Amino acid sequence: MLQRSLVLLKPDCVERRLMGQIIARFEAKGLNIVAMKMLRVTPEMSKQHYAEHVSKPFYPSLEQFITSAPIVAMAVEGLDVIQLIRDMLGATSGLKAAPGTIRGDYSSSRQMNLVHASDSPESAERELKLYFADTDFCDHDLLITPALRATDEA
Ligand code: PPS
Repeated sequence: MLQRSLVLLKPDCVERRLMGQIIARFEAKGLNIVAMKMLRVTPEMSKQHYAEHVSKPFYPSLEQFITSAPIVAMAVEGLDVIQLIRDMLGATSGLKAAPGTIRGDYSSSRQMNLVHASDSPESAERELKLYFADTDFCDHDLLITPALRATDEA
């Protein structure tokens, strides 16, 4: 199924100059970036984004971190892309993420785990609305699509 996921390159990713390497992995996989912006997350946005974690002991530290420097927000589109990107990221903690995954290769932290991605279609719909307006999405038919998958895979 064609899906869109919200992907955030978090402050550690921006600070460590890893944006290009992470984006290159999504491009190499054949995924489409259909919206992208750099921004500073506010405390209010953080509370909305991480609503299910606000009452947890680690939340103050998570908010301090996510608001500490700019992030890059992206809407990434592709077949079954929500689970696919979660698999590409690996386990939440970089210490536990398998080698070959993004976090497994670049992170050794649970908080500074470089990239956020939506964990379900419901989360993706909610999270994409937090970061993007309908007019931010650049829909277009890529010429490369026939080279990436067969027509009956769409
Ligand atoms: S997951 O992958 O979303 O199911 O992971 P989860 O364990 O639910 O964690 C959700 C986000 O909270 C962050 N997190 C923490 N930050 C700081 N300290 C601790 N102990 C901690 N535990 C979880 C974690 O980095 C996840 O951030 P995102 O942006 O969703 O990756």
